Amino acid sequence: MLKKIAIFASGTGSNATKIVAHFKDHASISVALVVSNKATAPVLQMATTNHIPTLLLNRTSFYETEQLLENLARHQIDFIALAGFLWLIPPYLVKAFEQRMVNIHPALLPKYGGKGMYGMNVHKAVQANGEKESGITIHFVNEQYDEGGAIFQAACGIEPIDDPIAIRNKVLQLEHYYFPRIIEGLLE
Ligand code: GRF
Repeated sequence: MLKKIAIFASGTGSNATKIVAHFKDHASISVALVVSNKATAPVLQMATTNHIPTLLLNRTSFYETEQLLENLARHQIDFIALAGFLWLIPPYLVKAFEQRMVNIHPALLPKYGGKGMYGMNVHKAVQANGEKESGITIHFVNEQYDEGGAIFQAACGIEPIDDPIAIRNKVLQLEHYYFPRIIEGLLE
């Protein structure tokens, strides 16, 4: 049976792009929907270019109704990948996709996680603390930011000359390689 993924993303969507490319010709898994909370997010353009349906979220509807579940059902979504999605996931969605929704975080959780720890904030904090390594954490999603059970981690070394952008680039390489493959492993 074909398994269908929805990617939720708020921004650039470099991870989303890698996931879409990874599953483009896959026999049993496809990316069937890209969901964003931001009308101008480049990830929506990427989806359209790849002929993938998109859905723009409205904050009130997302938090105060369960209408999203109907939309996900209409697209027969089995699995959700959060790839740079910044809104906290409401309980109804956590429950409906228990063990079927994962997030990628650009640090070695439980360090450098939680509210406000996203994007460059993470890499700046890692550098300011003189960490010798950083990395990625792929984890299931629960009602708190970055607290669901960890599925996979990979680390990269940090040199004293690495600035936050260099750290981000090292971490992104790990994200782009591992995230599609871990999703594939969970779905197979
Ligand atoms: C990634 O660093 C990911 O770990 C985090 O948000 C960032 C999204 O980047 N959750 P992109 O939009 O995939 O380039």
